[in-house]
Amino acid sequence: MIDILDRVKNKALQEKIVTAEEAAAFFKPGMNVACSGFTASGYPKAVPLALAERMKKEPFTVNIWTGASTGPELDDALAEVHGIKGRLPYQTDKILRNEINDGSVEYLDLHLSESAQLGRYGYLGKVDVALVEVCAITEEGNLIPTTSLGNTASYVQQADVVIVEVNTTQPLELEGMHDVYVPLDPPNRLPIPIVKADDRVGTSYIPCTPEKIKYIVPCDVPDHTRPLSAIDDNSKKMSEFTLEFLKKEVAAGHMPKNLLPLQSGVGNVANAVMAGFVDSDLEDLSVYTEVIQDGMLDLIDAGKLKFASGTAFSPSPEGMARFYKDVAKYKKYLLLRPEEISNSPEVVRRIGVIAMNTAIEVDIYGNVNSTHIAGTKMMNGIGGSGDFARNAFLTIFYTPSVAKDGKISSVVPMCSHIDHTEHDVDIIITEQGIADLRGLAPHARALEIINNCAHPDYRPMLLDYYNRAVTATKNAHTPHILKEALSFHERFLETGSMR
Ligand code: COA
Repeated sequence: MIDILDRVKNKALQEKIVTAEEAAAFFKPGMNVACSGFTASGYPKAVPLALAERMKKEPFTVNIWTGASTGPELDDALAEVHGIKGRLPYQTDKILRNEINDGSVEYLDLHLSESAQLGRYGYLGKVDVALVEVCAITEEGNLIPTTSLGNTASYVQQADVVIVEVNTTQPLELEGMHDVYVPLDPPNRLPIPIVKADDRVGTSYIPCTPEKIKYIVPCDVPDHTRPLSAIDDNSKKMSEFTLEFLKKEVAAGHMPKNLLPLQSGVGNVANAVMAGFVDSDLEDLSVYTEVIQDGMLDLIDAGKLKFASGTAFSPSPEGMARFYKDVAKYKKYLLLRPEEISNSPEVVRRIGVIAMNTAIEVDIYGNVNSTHIAGTKMMNGIGGSGDFARNAFLTIFYTPSVAKDGKISSVVPMCSHIDHTEHDVDIIITEQGIADLRGLAPHARALEIINNCAHPDYRPMLLDYYNRAVTATKNAHTPHILKEALSFHERFLETGSMR
C-alpha cells in the first residue's frame, strides 16, 4: 500500500482507493467503457480481470472502447466470458476475433486518428465510464499515463466517471515522456503546431479533476507485451529492398541523407525493416509513428536515432526490461502522444512521413486489403494504416507474395476487400521485388506489380488474366473481367488453393 499512497499525491483522493472487485461492481449491462491502452501497453488489467470474474457468475455485456488492441487481461479475459457486446476501434485478440466473425461482437473498425473525435461528437454513444491505467495521480487530480496514450485523454475529457488503476509496476520516471494535446473540434480547431518529431505541444499529464475520479485501484500486473519472433528470410529480403530503394531516393535528391520521418507498422516485416535500419549506415533518423518497438531502442543504442514519437511504447518483454533498466537514457529520445496526434493526417502530410505497413493482399492495380481474409473474415482492423497511407510522403506496403504455404497468391486480380485504394499506394514490396507505382497509369501499374512482386508460380496466371481483360475491355482504362475478378479467391474457397 505504501507504493500506491506515494503515487496518489492528493490525500483526499486516497480515500477512494478500493479493491478491483469493489470497482468491478460499479459496471452495469450495456455501459460504454472507454479504456486506456494501445497494443499490449498501458491498458487496465486488475479491474477487467475482476469484471470478467463477476461476469462468470452474473453474465452481462458491455461495450469496450480503447486506443487500439490491448493485452489479454482486457480483451481476452472479457471475450472469454462473452462479456463484450461492442468493440472499437482496433483489436488483435484471437478469441475476440472469433466472436467478431461469428457475429456475437459488433466491431467498429475505425481510422485510429478519427476515433476520439467520433466519440467526442457522440456518434458512438456516451462514455459511461473511463477506465484508465496511470503511473500516478497529481495533487490536482491530473493523471500521469504509463506506456501508451491512445485515446485516453479524450475519453477522460468525455467521462463524468473515471476509474483509475494505478499500476505500481510502471516506473515513476515515465513522467515527462508524454505530450498530451487534445485538439478543439471544428470549427474551432487550430493548426497542430508540430513540424518535427520532437516538438512538444501539450501537457505531460492527462487533465482530470478529483471530483471525476470515482475509484482508485492498485494494480501490480505488468504490460503483457509480445516476444519478438525471429526474422524470416522473406522479411529480410523485403527489408533489403527497402533500404536499397530509400538510398536511391536519397541519391536522386528526393529526401535528405537521414531520410524523412519513418512510420513502421507492427509484426514480422516491420521488425525486419527496423533491424535493417540498425545495420545500415544511415544516421540521425527520426520516427513519427504509432507504436515504438524494440527496433527504436536498437537505433538509440546504435547512436542512429535522433527522436521517436509515437502513441504506444510496446517492445518485447526483453525490450521492456532493457528500457526499465535505463529509463532516463531512453526517455530523452522517446515521446508518446494521443493517437489523434501521432496519426494526425495534418502532421503526417506536413512532415512528409515514410509509411511502411503490411497488407494481407494487393491487387494488380495497387489496391490494398489490410483487414479481411477472403473478403469476409475480419483479421485485426485498419488501425492506423489508413491515417498514414493516405497522407504520407511515401506509402509502402509489404506482403509476402504467397500465403498458406503457397496455396494463396497475395497478388490477385482484384482485392477481395479494399482498405487503401490505388490512389494511396506508392510502392509495393514482396520478397520477389519492388513495384514503384509512382507516376504510372493502370496498365503500367499492373505489369510493374505482376512482373516484380507476384510469385513466379502465379505470374503467368496473373498476366493471362490481365491480357484477356485488356482484350475483353478493348484496352479500357482499368481492364477487368468482372465475373472473373475474384476467381482466384473462389478457387481457393472451393479447392483449398488458388493454383
Ligand atoms: N489470404 C488469406 N490469408 C492470409 C493472406 C492472404 N493473402 N495473407 C496472410 N494471411 C493469413 C496468414 O496466413 C495468417 O493466418 P494465421 O493467423 O491463420 O496464421 C494471418 O493472415 C496473418 O498473417 P501474418 O503474415 O501472420 O500477418 P502479420 O502479422 O504480418 O500482419 C496484417 C499482417 C495485415 C494482418 C497486420 O499488419 C495488420 O493487422 N494490419 C492492419 C493494421 C496496420 O497496418 N497497422 C499498422 C499500424 S499503422
